[in-house]
Amino acid sequence: MLLTVEKITKKFNGQPVIKAFDFTLEKGEIVTLIGKSGTGKTTLMRIINHLETVDAGEIRLGDITLCKTNRKGEVDYANKGTLRKYHNQIGMVFQNYQLFPNLTVLENCMEATVAQKRESNQYLQKKAMELLEQVGLNEKANAMPNELSGGQQQRVAIARALMLNPSILCFDEPTSALDRESTIEIGKMIQKIAANGTGILIVTHDDEFAKDIGTRVVSSDEFLDNREIHEK
Ligand SMILES: Nc1ncnc2c1ncn2[C@@H]1O[C@H](COP(=O)(O)OP(=O)(O)OP(=O)(O)O)[C@@H](O)[C@H]1O
Ligand SMILES: [Mg+2]
Repeated sequence: MLLTVEKITKKFNGQPVIKAFDFTLEKGEIVTLIGKSGTGKTTLMRIINHLETVDAGEIRLGDITLCKTNRKGEVDYANKGTLRKYHNQIGMVFQNYQLFPNLTVLENCMEATVAQKRESNQYLQKKAMELLEQVGLNEKANAMPNELSGGQQQRVAIARALMLNPSILCFDEPTSALDRESTIEIGKMIQKIAANGTGILIVTHDDEFAKDIGTRVVSSDEFLDNREIHEK
């Protein structure tokens, strides 16, 4: 199992949004997460990406334990070195893309990896160009984000997320700003990424997209009452 989430609970102001929730994600799987507004979908994704902490439960990614409830009932998070490994294996594409407005498309893709200084600049630039080609945007490498359409910005965000070769890639409402044609295009791109073994988690309000692309559909109804996961 790539990602295992066991009995996690998350409260805001004492009120649980997610309670004793179990979730798994396997290599190459595309899980689509649907459900009403305010039911905790983004929160779950933020928890998995360690942008938010849990009040109880355990999260493992491969052989890395992100957090675990100890005998006193407190949640222990991994140390800095382990957290760094965890962060390198997981990527998130935000709803509003969150590109850096003052960096070019190419610089946006290179930013996270350059900051880590793991590879040479030359190598990273070559890799970024290859990924931009994959998403059909190599000709826009030197454009600024505000010169791109919504769908194009979305594709830059995907290329950027792929720079770190994540084992898991999360998308928060990737198609909410897109027309049907671009939605289908992004869907195909996501399926290609999954075919390479990446586990994908997608939050969406688009039920048709969820069913078309998801190898499994999960509803946020399960966050509070642990019903069976609905197999497609
Ligand atoms: N940082 C926070 N502080 C307090 N409450 C929060 C915080 N983040 C989220 N919440 C609350 O948690 C609940 C779940 O929010 P979340 O954003 O996860 O919902 P969602 O399912 O993604 O909704 P939508 O479909 O509208 O995006 C909401 O009631 C929200 O008000
Ligand atoms: Mg949300």
